[in-house]
Amino acid sequence: MVEKRKKVTIPEIYAMVERGEKITFLTAYDYPTALLEDRVGIDMILVGDSAVMCLLGHETTLPATMDFMVEITAAVSRAVERAFIVGDMPYMSYQPSNEDAIRNAGRFIAEGGADAVKLEGGARMAERVEAIVKAGIPVMGHIGLTPQAASLIGGLKAQGRSAETAKALIEDAKVLEEVGAFAILLEAIPARVAEIIVRNARVPVLSIGSGAACHGQLLIVHDILGLFEAFTPKFVKKYADLAPIMVDAFRRYIEEVKAGAFPTPDHEYHIPKEEWQRLQELLKADKGGDG
Ligand code: KIV
Repeated sequence: MVEKRKKVTIPEIYAMVERGEKITFLTAYDYPTALLEDRVGIDMILVGDSAVMCLLGHETTLPATMDFMVEITAAVSRAVERAFIVGDMPYMSYQPSNEDAIRNAGRFIAEGGADAVKLEGGARMAERVEAIVKAGIPVMGHIGLTPQAASLIGGLKAQGRSAETAKALIEDAKVLEEVGAFAILLEAIPARVAEIIVRNARVPVLSIGSGAACHGQLLIVHDILGLFEAFTPKFVKKYADLAPIMVDAFRRYIEEVKAGAFPTPDHEYHIPKEEWQRLQELLKADKGGDG
């Protein structure tokens, strides 16, 4: 029997920080991608609301719904043996009230099989984070560039580049830690500001575009594979360029079907000889009857 690999847990994530081992973190929105990420040993997977941009072609993350997020989280969970799974709470699934926040966070855990949830906002969301944690669900805080509040923060751009906004982010991180967030994600903030947050933090601090001092790094899987073409943030590194590979496969398929080169007998099912003969007789008998 093949032994299942041990699931990454919050104590294990803390132990990695303690050992000085960097935490690896990627998004996944579907079964096959999660399967491959987990197979090669990714530590954490975020089922991000960026799914609606990367998979569905929306221009923002705002149209993500709870039903959609829970369904894709469940697909990721079915694929994963080891990685710690974080479900990303979509717009308006937690902002209206503590009850909404707890109920929807619970859906990620019970229906989606997530290990924790993530929500956007610092001090202004402290009450929600505290309520979810008190309900027994681990929460990852997310500050800096928070796309659900793009209009409030002046657009999809780096945050904390003035002394005042940097100080506010440092305070946000403290508040999130105080209300029980098990980890904090910093998106697109200056590396030197992130360094201060890491130095002060007693919880793991993860970065997406916030520098190397953080305890771990997150990137969006469609960005690293070259499958998201709408825009490329400064912090993205492309590890593969799958678009031309896919385009080539689609092009060759079209050419072969048009030319009659696909399918060949290798791709066809065969009827046994005796059955073929019987079929001929049955068809002949039918024709005889008609005549
Ligand atoms: O939805 C997502 O992928 C995210 C990351 C950009 C942090 O929230």
